[in-house]
This record gives sequence, structure tokens and C-alpha cells, in this order.
Amino acid sequence: MTYRRQFLKYLAASPLLTSYSAFAQEVEETLGERLTDPRDVINVFEMEALARERIPPAHFGYLATGVDSDETLQANRDGFSRFQIKPRRLVDVSEVDTTVNVLGVQADSPIFLCPVGSQGAYHSDAELGTARAAAAKGHHMILSTQSSTRIEDVAEARGAPIWHQLYSTDRWENTVLMLQRAEAAGATAVCLTIDLPGRRNTETQSRLFREDDRNCLDCHRGQAKPMFEGLDMRGARLTDPSLTWDVIGRMKQVTDMNVIIKGIEVAEDAALAVEYGADGIIVSNHGGRSVETGRGTIECLPEVVAAVSGRIPVIVDGGFRRGTDVFKALALGASAVGFGRPYCFGLGAFGQAGVERVLDLVNRELVIAMRGSGTTSVNNITYDYVHDNGYRV
Ligand SMILES: Cc1cc2nc3c(=O)[nH]c(=O)nc-3n(C[C@H](O)[C@H](O)[C@H](O)COP(=O)(O)O)c2cc1C
Repeated sequence: MTYRRQFLKYLAASPLLTSYSAFAQEVEETLGERLTDPRDVINVFEMEALARERIPPAHFGYLATGVDSDETLQANRDGFSRFQIKPRRLVDVSEVDTTVNVLGVQADSPIFLCPVGSQGAYHSDAELGTARAAAAKGHHMILSTQSSTRIEDVAEARGAPIWHQLYSTDRWENTVLMLQRAEAAGATAVCLTIDLPGRRNTETQSRLFREDDRNCLDCHRGQAKPMFEGLDMRGARLTDPSLTWDVIGRMKQVTDMNVIIKGIEVAEDAALAVEYGADGIIVSNHGGRSVETGRGTIECLPEVVAAVSGRIPVIVDGGFRRGTDVFKALALGASAVGFGRPYCFGLGAFGQAGVERVLDLVNRELVIAMRGSGTTSVNNITYDYVHDNGYRV
């Protein structure tokens, strides 16, 4: 079923042309009819356009949008233009190595798959399609608490240890049970998301909900997500607004997994995370879905890297769409980079094959950026290769 015509009608009537909808103007209306094979898609933006056509409006609204006027969402993209690549010449770049090792995870690419909830809403392949694509292309995967699929099945489909993203709920006994379950499923790290202590104001999503004429209750019958199976969730909140830094120590008392803190944007918090014993940090603003009018995460990265000073790995996500975006983050000191929406656009457009295509596209772009700049491995990509316009601390 195609929702494109309906969606374009919505765009034409919308007073706000948001970052994703601005792109819609550049994409021909016939794209979906012509691009029937994932291999025909030439970049992430085209994949987004196809996903927009194939995913129902309410679900696409959940996936693609931010909060309030989508300014942080846009800031994540705009941030990359504040940094320029400084290429070096006459380096032998015939062999380029994109492998990384982060906290014991060996991956063929520094591009990690971010935790994105409810993947069954984009395609029936859901998280199993994502995991199989990640396995086929050698990418590391982080699975959301809000996954549509059981962690045990996803871990098996990935065929290598995944990381578990945790929404702690506001009941500690639930946190403990989820940590035990993730560890038993073979997860080697837990990524505690700390950037959503309260509610979100999702206006663009609400407008897209209005465009969807399906009855939500036909599918959403209040059933719990698989990660909450067996937990007492009556009256419980997804996140605990009373969490403070001691949560890191409390988690370490009940799990042997590495504890990674997801959602840091400033140097002071990065220093606290290290002080309280975190094993890693993810610089993230939840893909522009948390605090509005924030900075792009690539702009936050230099001060976090400086505060951490090499003591633990720093991963960054938010707005990454191009291999050059990845290159810049690596040059600024990131150990790896997270992609969220892009692979879900691939999933929504073509299922597992679409995720694989997105990974191929961005890896290819990264290799081109590495060769073009005279770098032959991820470790080679240092501050010398980026002009930072004064962002360096
Ligand atoms: C639809 C959607 C669902 C998400 N679900 C989660 C989640 O369950 N847990 C979490 O920590 N982050 C979640 N995120 C945030 C991502 O992990 C990541 O930080 C963000 O998507 C990166 O930005 P990008 O989408 O521009 O790549 C979600 C993001 C989106 C777009």
C-alpha cells in the first residue's frame, strides 16, 4: 500500500516544513515506482524517501520526527557543516581497514546500530531483519528495551554478542531482572539511556498521526513489549525521573556487563560518568527526541572527548547520514558512531535487504572519505584531519 500521495498532500498543507519534509521536495514523486530493488538506492536520503512512502504515516511520524519544532533534530544535521575534512595526499591508500574494537566488541565497521524501539512498526522483519543485516555486514548492534522482538531471538539472529539498551523503569526490581535477562542472552554491555527523564512533546508526530486513517487499537491492544514479559509493570514508568549518578554503581553490583551511559552532551557529565565508574559513554540527544533547541551532537563531541581524556570509549550518535559524517566524528575522537533512523528507513523500505543496503552505502562512503583524506585505518583518523572552527577544547 502506498501512503505517498496522502503524505505529500499533508506536506503541502503543513505550515512547518521540517528537516525530513524539506528533503521530500527534492525527491521525485515517482521514486518508489522506479526503485524496486534496494541496490538502486544511491544514498540514505533516497532510502528515507522510500521509507516515507512505504511506512504508514503514524509509524513514519514516530520514526522520523523530533520534538516541538524539530530544532534539535535539525541541529544534528547542521552540526556537521561546522567541521571540514583536511585531506592529506600521496599516501598509499590501496588498503583501507575500517575495523574497530570497542569494549571487546570486534566489528568490521565503526558504524554501530543504535537502539531503536518498535521495529515491527516499520517492517515485519523487525529486529530480526536488522540483526541478520548487522551479521551479514559485520556491524555491532544495540537492542532497545522497547524492542518488538525478544532479546534472546535477536541475539541468536545476530550470532555475536549484542549490547542491551536499558530503560530502567521506576522499579529497581525490574531493572535487576532486565539486566539478568540481557546478560543471560549474551549481552556484554548495558547502555543506560539517561536523556528521557520526563515526557516528550512530539508535535510533528501528532500531525502525522492525524493523517493515518487506520484504527490504532486494531493492532495496539496494550500488550507489553517482550522485554517487560514477567515484570510487574502495573503503574510503572518507562524511565525513572529520580535517577542520579549512583545508579552506575548500583548496576555494577548486579551485573558483570559493561555499563555505558547513553545521552551525555556536556563535559561536566562526561567527567561524572567516568568518576562514577562508567565503562563507556554515548554522546546522544536521542536523535533530537529529547531536549529541544539543543546542540548537534557532533558539536558536543569535542568537549566530551576532552573531559574523558581517553579513559573510556566515547561513542556518538545523532544525525549521521554520510560516510563523511562518520569520518569527522572519528577525527574528533569518537571510538565508534551510532546510526539510528537510517537503517530503519532501509528496514521500512525493503526489510532486511534495505538495512543491508544502507550499511553498504554508508560503509562505501566512509571508505571513500578515508581514501580521499589519506587515512588507512580508523586509528589513523585523528584531529589532524578535521578543521574544527574553534570547537576543540
Ligand atoms: C523511532 C526511534 C526510537 C528510538 N528508540 C530508542 C530506544 O528505545 N532507546 C534509546 O536509548 N534510544 C532510542 N532512540 C534513539 C537512538 O538510539 C539514537 O540515539 C538516535 O536515533 C540517533 O539519531 P539518528 O536517528 O539521527 O541516527 C530512538 C530513536 C528513534 C528515531
